[in-house]
Amino acid sequence: MSWKAIGIFDSGIGGLTVLKELVEVMPQEDTIYLGDTARVPYGAKSPETVIRYAVEIASFLVKRDIKLLVVACNTASALSLETLQNMLTIPVVGVIEPGARRAAAVTRSGRVGVIGTEATIKSSAYTRAIKRINPAIEVITRACPLFVPLAEEGWTGNEVARLTARSYLAGLKETGVDTLVLGCTHYPLLKEIIAECMGEGVTLVDSAEETARTVAEILLHQGLLRPAAEQGNHHYFVTDVPAGFIRVGNRFLGGNLEDVHQIKLEEAHVQEGSDVAA
Ligand code: DGL
Repeated sequence: MSWKAIGIFDSGIGGLTVLKELVEVMPQEDTIYLGDTARVPYGAKSPETVIRYAVEIASFLVKRDIKLLVVACNTASALSLETLQNMLTIPVVGVIEPGARRAAAVTRSGRVGVIGTEATIKSSAYTRAIKRINPAIEVITRACPLFVPLAEEGWTGNEVARLTARSYLAGLKETGVDTLVLGCTHYPLLKEIIAECMGEGVTLVDSAEETARTVAEILLHQGLLRPAAEQGNHHYFVTDVPAGFIRVGNRFLGGNLEDVHQIKLEEAHVQEGSDVAA
């Protein structure tokens, strides 16, 4: 029996934080990752543009015969998840619901901070998702747009990153949140500096782990989970030259980032086919 791969995408390297967790939970699964490095960042773009990009990427991955799609980008999850779920017949998993679930479970004080891109924060997707779980939780949000270029550049532990984090997070720390959602998949790359700024009493929530668990449950439930004895292969596609992605990705994944190909995405149009809803 041949097993299909899990498709996963982000605007750049951020989704590798989710991929890492997926591989940890399901080392037997094949994955196909797409980083839209030619068009990163998504966080400053309009919903229409992000939806168009997400549809183009989903169409590309579905053509490679994936069994499930992980939207490993909070911005794309906030703006395009519903469109993708309506468009595709395979399961589509975003990162916002899992992150919200974890934050609601972790907070003791009922005050949760959420940081993300301009687009994610503006969409209020996290506030809605957390309040759906527990309406009594107070959600305080803050956009941190410079974190994405810092992460893409691999500037995650230097003075520039530290000063940027301090100026974004000082006000949030003062509000007394006890939980902070890293509402952008790039932000776990800056986890140490963010933790340093927020102090010991604040728990950082990154939705990767919860997302991986959700994916495993869906695959198991649908009989699509590959036998544990297998060893997964990992393929990577990017839309710009791969050098920067390989350099930063290798540092993050601990080497071995092979098989990275540059591709050109086609114009967005909903495809008709076996894995795409008509
Ligand atoms: N990593 C993405 C997110 O989770 C997108 C960041 C960006 O491209 O602005 O929101």
